[in-house]
Amino acid sequence: MLKDQITNLKNEAIGQILEAKSLQELEEIRARFLGRSGKINELTQVIPQLTEAEKGQFGRLINETKKTITEVLQQAQDKLQTTERPEIFFDPTVPGIQPPLGHLHLITQAIEEITAIFEKIGFRRVRYPEVEWDWYAFGGLNFPENHPARDEWETFFVANLYHGKFGRGLLTPHTSSGQLREMENNRPPIRMLNIAKCYRRQSDISHAPMFYQFEGLVIDENINITHLKGTLDYFFKSYFGPDRQARIRPYHFQFTEPSFEVDVSCSECHGAGILASGEVCRVCKNGWLEIGGAGMVHPQVLKNGGLDPQKYTGFAFGWGVERVLMMKYGLGDIRLLFEGDLRFLQQF
Ligand code: PHE
Repeated sequence: MLKDQITNLKNEAIGQILEAKSLQELEEIRARFLGRSGKINELTQVIPQLTEAEKGQFGRLINETKKTITEVLQQAQDKLQTTERPEIFFDPTVPGIQPPLGHLHLITQAIEEITAIFEKIGFRRVRYPEVEWDWYAFGGLNFPENHPARDEWETFFVANLYHGKFGRGLLTPHTSSGQLREMENNRPPIRMLNIAKCYRRQSDISHAPMFYQFEGLVIDENINITHLKGTLDYFFKSYFGPDRQARIRPYHFQFTEPSFEVDVSCSECHGAGILASGEVCRVCKNGWLEIGGAGMVHPQVLKNGGLDPQKYTGFAFGWGVERVLMMKYGLGDIRLLFEGDLRFLQQF
């Protein structure tokens, strides 16, 4: 009689355990059957009325039943836990969590790309001081003291830094400051690529107080404008794509003669300024996008660099790394390049 009751209880408990859908439910079942005022304890209330022999038999049966229910409960719990709280189980076959992996900054990538393009045609990358003397940035490049053309370079001068021969100390406002240093260091043929930080008092969506320029300088016998034009064409095709072309327009710089402003043909209308639909191209409005300055090295600058302008001629160009890179990717705001926002940087 008692034995049947216990067996029924056990089956009832197991039945419920197998049906249980959550850990919470299992906990309730445990309380209902094994708890202090649970069904099993309820049964044990009859013990005092039993004979000694019956007590022993009954006790064993109760213990076995408790043990069985506990085991089945444990199994059911384990099973539910793997689905409800999988993180507490260690599965060595699950692929690990990948630590975030960085990559080179967009500007560094561009510098490497530009370097590789020019190295292919024999240019050699160099670096010269960022804190420089007036002579290299201005004086030796034909900017007389107090000449208004200096204003365009919005220069940061370094307080209390002065050289008896070379003038005031300043932060390089352009990579052209490397031209004379290169001539002092090397005899022609010179094929210099000077990529460096430049500093100017400026800040808006297309100008930052610190930015990068890359400057090419070629000096040898018989160098002429066609070499410049060919080099520009080569660079644009390599960097922007095979359908791009260079255009040069007359301009003025103190240190080149003649001087040019360089444009690249627009990617949308290919230099036409008008789209196939007849609309004016909104990217460029006139077919060309302005890249920066270039020119034939001024004879006086060659002299200042210790070279004979009767024997040697050369060309130079100097452009913003951020500018070409923003044009390549269609970026509208230079500040994106300096903010370090991963949502932006991870796209490259
Ligand atoms: N240094 C000039 C600038 O910063 C660009 C330039 C370089 C022009 C070389 C001519 C030759 O605008």
